[in-house]
Amino acid sequence: MARVFVLNGVNLGALGTRRPEVYGTMTLKDLEVLLRERFPEADFEFRQTDHEGEMVGYVREAKASSGIVINPGAWTHYSYAIHDALEAVEDVPKVEIHLTNVHRREPWRRHSVISPAVNAVVAGMGVFGYEAAVGYIIKQSKA
Ligand code: DQA
Repeated sequence: MARVFVLNGVNLGALGTRRPEVYGTMTLKDLEVLLRERFPEADFEFRQTDHEGEMVGYVREAKASSGIVINPGAWTHYSYAIHDALEAVEDVPKVEIHLTNVHRREPWRRHSVISPAVNAVVAGMGVFGYEAAVGYIIKQSKA
């Protein structure tokens, strides 16, 4: 059974009420329910934190998993600590995900310090991006 870590970073706990016109109306709980229903064959670990060090711990915990789907929120743009944590978790497929198309927004959102440490990046597909990312990890685990 594929063991998949879905990690959501800073401010993503407010999903559903935080700028719904930008991020949509689904909450993280709704997202968890959707992914569990869509991928009954997966063993999920869902985590959200607003604390960078805690996120580093979650990434390390995923060392023995089938893969990591991570939306680092604003840490995307400046957290070398999360980059380094992801880089250190070798042999695990990692997908960076953004609900929005960060390239269409403010210029500072266009740069990710996380991307060099992951296998793939999904941006702008909303919640469907998480489905795509989990599907990719499950496919990799069967390869
Ligand atoms: C985000 C994009 C980031 O720039 C922003 O800080 C977020 C959410 C997204 O999912 O589109 O918190 O990662």
